[in-house]
Amino acid sequence: DLGDYKYYMQKEIFEQPQAIRDTLESRITKNTVLLSAFGYRAKTIFKNTKHIQIIACGTSYNAGLVAKYWLEDIAKIPTNIEVASEYRYRNPIVLDNTLLITISQSGETADTLEALRSIKKRYKNIHTLTICNCAESSLTRESELILLTHAGPEISVASTKAFTTQLVSLALFSVAIGKCHKQVDKQQEASIVDGLNRLSGLIKKTLEQENKIIKLAQSFKDKFNAIFLGRGTMHAIAMEGALKLKEISYIHSEAFPAGELKHGPIALIDKDTPVIAIAPNDQLLDKLKSNLQEVKSRGSQMIVFEDEMSNVLPMKNMTVMSITHNLGRITAPIIFTIPLQLLSYHVALIKGADVDKPRNLAKSVTVE
Ligand code: F6R
Repeated sequence: DLGDYKYYMQKEIFEQPQAIRDTLESRITKNTVLLSAFGYRAKTIFKNTKHIQIIACGTSYNAGLVAKYWLEDIAKIPTNIEVASEYRYRNPIVLDNTLLITISQSGETADTLEALRSIKKRYKNIHTLTICNCAESSLTRESELILLTHAGPEISVASTKAFTTQLVSLALFSVAIGKCHKQVDKQQEASIVDGLNRLSGLIKKTLEQENKIIKLAQSFKDKFNAIFLGRGTMHAIAMEGALKLKEISYIHSEAFPAGELKHGPIALIDKDTPVIAIAPNDQLLDKLKSNLQEVKSRGSQMIVFEDEMSNVLPMKNMTVMSITHNLGRITAPIIFTIPLQLLSYHVALIKGADVDKPRNLAKSVTVE
């Protein structure tokens, strides 16, 4: 039932505050992450984990890419990530004490499932965890540990609330395994949990800025290309923004780590190619600001989603939109996802696309 919403994608974007509350429910206390959320075997497995390998596709891959930063930063465990369609067809070397993680909304994506099966066949002792939105699915049946995202049914082909609840789940996992490795102290845990508890409210506030994004979307009406920039976890969020825009509005969109611009992609930038940058208030902010200067001199239209604390000074052809105030490394990527979802949704609306059923795409890709 769509209620007052026009499309499922819009409904699902606006369901995120609740979906995140549901995903956190009974998995945290006021200041701790409960290891029990991962099942009774988790503690021993997490303690013995020396390497993490994540496999996933599409949006779920982008969530895993954010988690790679978190896991190495917070839990100090070497983490690799690869798209399942590559991983399954090569002969990857899996080191001893690797925890293999699959991430999937549907739990039925053929590439992800077959990658899991082939590794389990070759490495009999491997431990596996799936982060999945469907309790009754092939991935949950075939994985040793399960953490369900409680996003509720996602109907629109473009994934939105599944992505943000995957990020929340991966944040819980990063803290849980970090505690098992004595890398997360009480104070750090309390501050991350506090951030997670505030997420729903922060997302609500961000959603209230929809009207500003509707205005920004107008300028994409006759664009054929768009470029998304970010650094660190925001590179993964830029990739998610580009994936959303291309799949529902059919505008060719690419994401680059902002530092890579000068190594080639900057050749693409001209006045008809809008550049969307994500500017959190982190240690890379100054570097990102100089990347924006490089873009400016090519005369393209720029949209910068910033943290209020980032103080990006608007330049010619640049719209700066303050999304939020002083966010941490866990909450920031989740919050900066919201304006990108809204932007792609409104661009698709303006272009008259069938938002929930983009051409050539299926909700669950159960074929190779
Ligand atoms: C993008 C999208 C796809 C899926 C991908 C994996 O909006 O929906 O990229 O994320 O096909 O699907 P799951 O997560 O079901 O394994």
